[in-house]
Amino acid sequence: TNNGLSKTAASTNGASPKSAHVNSGSVDTETTVSITVVGASGDLAKKKIFPALFALYYEGCLPKHFTIFGFARSKMTDESLREMISGTLTCRIDQSENCGEKQEEFLKRCFYHAGQYSSEESFGQLSDKLRKQEGSRVANRLFYLSIPPNIFVDVARSSSLAASSANGWTRVIVEKPFGRDSESSAELTRGLKTYLKEDQIYRIDHYLGKELVENLSVLRFSNLVFEPLWSRQYIRNVQLIFSEDFGTEGRGGYFDNYGIIRDIMQNHLLQILALFAMEPPVSLDAEDIRNEKVKVLRSMRVLDVDNVVVGQYKGHTRGGVKYPAYLDDKTVPKNSITPTFAAAAVFIDNARWDGVPFLMKAGKALHKKRAEIRVQFRHVPGNLYKRSFGTDLDLATNELVIRVQPDEAIYLKINNKVPGLGMRLDRSNLNLHYADRYDREIPDAYERLLLDAIEGERRLFIRSDELDAAWALFTPLLNELEKRKISPELYPYGSRGPVGAHYLAAKYNVRWG
Ligand code: NDP
Ligand code: BG6
Repeated sequence: TNNGLSKTAASTNGASPKSAHVNSGSVDTETTVSITVVGASGDLAKKKIFPALFALYYEGCLPKHFTIFGFARSKMTDESLREMISGTLTCRIDQSENCGEKQEEFLKRCFYHAGQYSSEESFGQLSDKLRKQEGSRVANRLFYLSIPPNIFVDVARSSSLAASSANGWTRVIVEKPFGRDSESSAELTRGLKTYLKEDQIYRIDHYLGKELVENLSVLRFSNLVFEPLWSRQYIRNVQLIFSEDFGTEGRGGYFDNYGIIRDIMQNHLLQILALFAMEPPVSLDAEDIRNEKVKVLRSMRVLDVDNVVVGQYKGHTRGGVKYPAYLDDKTVPKNSITPTFAAAAVFIDNARWDGVPFLMKAGKALHKKRAEIRVQFRHVPGNLYKRSFGTDLDLATNELVIRVQPDEAIYLKINNKVPGLGMRLDRSNLNLHYADRYDREIPDAYERLLLDAIEGERRLFIRSDELDAAWALFTPLLNELEKRKISPELYPYGSRGPVGAHYLAAKYNVRWG
């Protein structure tokens, strides 16, 4: 049976023998996995990592023998960690089933060790505590670096020198940001590789763990009707849209050092683009897929400042409610010109996509929360029904929309005859609405990614050459924006973003969806 997390398709074709092992329910009594969340006192650990680990436990996806440790400088005991975590665990998977009991069982397997990030001694002590739980089994160790990037390398050093597994594998999950540009990213990679081998490093881009992003390849490569249309011959433009209806609330300090281009475009949207545009891989193997992604990234034109619009949200009052400006955030410098919005037109100079504009848009404090891929197809040549559409032929083109979130859906806009004796055409949707079609909740991206890291499945993690290729595309633009101190266009909190984004789209004959 498919438990919703299982990779049934992958395991049936042999791409992931280990996932078949987990899903078959057979349990390896000889091994144990220890998962250490480094930075356990932080926001991401509480919000995402512990809840995802519990969800995996609840679904029976963790191995029989496992231990979870929180590590940070904050003074906490096992008990206070459990208290902190218990407030974050939800029984969203199946309210009716013994969830309370499962939570208790799970919490008993969670421990805490307080220590310094750069101290081998602290990690040595952690290792002793891990060993006590692991007993004589083969002990695999996973470290999740949920900490600010300036201490990634310190932790990689102290954990690998003092707390690597003696008889099993040791893997390290690293959260973004992976540097600020090509140079700092290369330096981080060099630092990590001093202590870890590339196959021990799992660079997370959590958008790759989202259900509809994973489904992109299924949609393309296992439906005859899409792949033949997937090129410049039939596709007029592609839009990749990320928007949030809230500002940087609470994360202004981090955000101001990065801005929306580094926070969302260079990673989440670019990764989706790579999966969307890559050539068919030889197989579903991680290396085959990542090879294709690197190829497409390397075929892209370096971003040009003339094809980019940047914005920043400003405060205003509407209906008696006061909406803050980005600059009202106390952790943001007064005169910051960091963009909270960006739109860009990018191009892939290969045979498949030559001349097709890919428009990316990412913004905070916009009018709604959504992440979407929109594919606008070309006009039907010599359309017999064009008179039904008046002068606006744009209304007659097909559009495929992949709504990554919220309310996941895939729908295709088609032209249809309005029933009746006349001949009137109407735009309708062929709609695959997930909530109607599937009755189980969609797992959080972090669940899938944690499970993959435990199983050694690297397909959804970023390889270092992919990262280099991604930074090579964005670094000249980021340098130019900084050098010329380009001021962002202001847009009101809760609006559709700066008008400049519409002019940019219009330049390529595109209307944002
Ligand atoms: P936090 O700022 O909450 O930091 C996590 C922990 O690291 C803190 O609890 C603190 O633990 C320790 N820490 C914080 N600042 C410092 C410092 N200057 N020096 C040493 N230790 C410090 O980070 P988040 O949990 O928000 O994020 C963790 C990682 O995940 C970051 O790399 C972030 O960019 C990334 N990320 C976060 C997302 C989010 O939604 N929060 C989303 C995507 C990525 P203690 O003081 O107890 O040692
Ligand atoms: C993170 C960004 O990577 O993704 C955040 O740093 C952003 O700024 C978040 O809010 C969005 O993730 P999701 O899964 O909530 O869409």
